[in-house]
Amino acid sequence: MTSKAYLSDLFALDGRVAVVTGGSSGIGRAVAGALARAGASVVVVARTEAQLKETVAELTADGCRAGWVAADLSGRAGVRAAAEEAAAVFGEPDILVNCAGVNLRPPMGELGEEVWDTTMALNLDAPFLLGQRFGPGMAGRGFGRIIHITSQQAHRAFVQSGAYGVSKGALESLARSQAEAWSRYGVTCNTLVPGFVMTPLNARLSSDPERVAALAARTMVGRNGLAEDFAGAAVFLASAASAYVTGQSLFVDGGFSVH
Ligand SMILES: NC(=O)c1ccc[n+]([C@@H]2O[C@H](COP(=O)([O-])OP(=O)(O)OC[C@H]3O[C@@H](n4cnc5c(N)ncnc54)[C@H](OP(=O)(O)O)[C@@H]3O)[C@@H](O)[C@H]2O)c1
Repeated sequence: MTSKAYLSDLFALDGRVAVVTGGSSGIGRAVAGALARAGASVVVVARTEAQLKETVAELTADGCRAGWVAADLSGRAGVRAAAEEAAAVFGEPDILVNCAGVNLRPPMGELGEEVWDTTMALNLDAPFLLGQRFGPGMAGRGFGRIIHITSQQAHRAFVQSGAYGVSKGALESLARSQAEAWSRYGVTCNTLVPGFVMTPLNARLSSDPERVAALAARTMVGRNGLAEDFAGAAVFLASAASAYVTGQSLFVDGGFSVH
């Protein structure tokens, strides 16, 4: 067997269909690109059409199969409709990546119900509903991969974690519950845990060079994360290679969490 064939057996995603929420920017865009370049047909879901189109155009120009669905996932009806639209593009997904997220940071004493509800709706309810929609089908077909993008704030308080940290902690629990339900049917459910990644999500923090340098110094690798750092881990968790890895949280954080 050649090394290419060996690697292909482990990691290739040819014939698989993936849905990536938040796939038009930052970590989600890098993950969508990685899955598509590994062979999957990828549907990216987010609100802004221009960015979705740009993402899909980049992937198709690279010879990948990609489509998009414009949807606001911060309401249950919107999530349900988006799920149906996404499944209509290339068929029922084998891989679901929940990456769309919101990070609002009022001080705890000022955190009102609106911020709480908005955070939970997008960061937790949408992944739950999409899992309910796609998980049983994956289990019925005997193969599935559910990957949630959480945060170090699922594990520790950090810069007014507030509702955000709670939503991400719950998302890791959701992955374990899903893993418990569906792993025996070939559906693994895991989370990727970023540290600090330079994306539009944290534009304010990223524009402060002193804070950026201080955060980089807290990693072991000596730099902050890039969206591209998630490519390999995402392909691994989406592929045949990770069949015996489930209910786990994989930190992609340059050692931030163990420093
Ligand atoms: N960057 C970090 O340091 C960091 C650290 C820990 C965890 N994370 C997590 O990583 C994930 C991705 O973050 P990122 O840094 O890559 O952010 P990003 O570049 O801002 O991307 C966010 C994505 O989510 C989509 N989105 C936002 N609100 C949405 C909504 N209501 N409905 C549908 N889609 C929506 C955005 O597109 P539209 O705005 O067009 O909808 C975009 O595609 C998030 O879950 C975040 O919590 C990031």
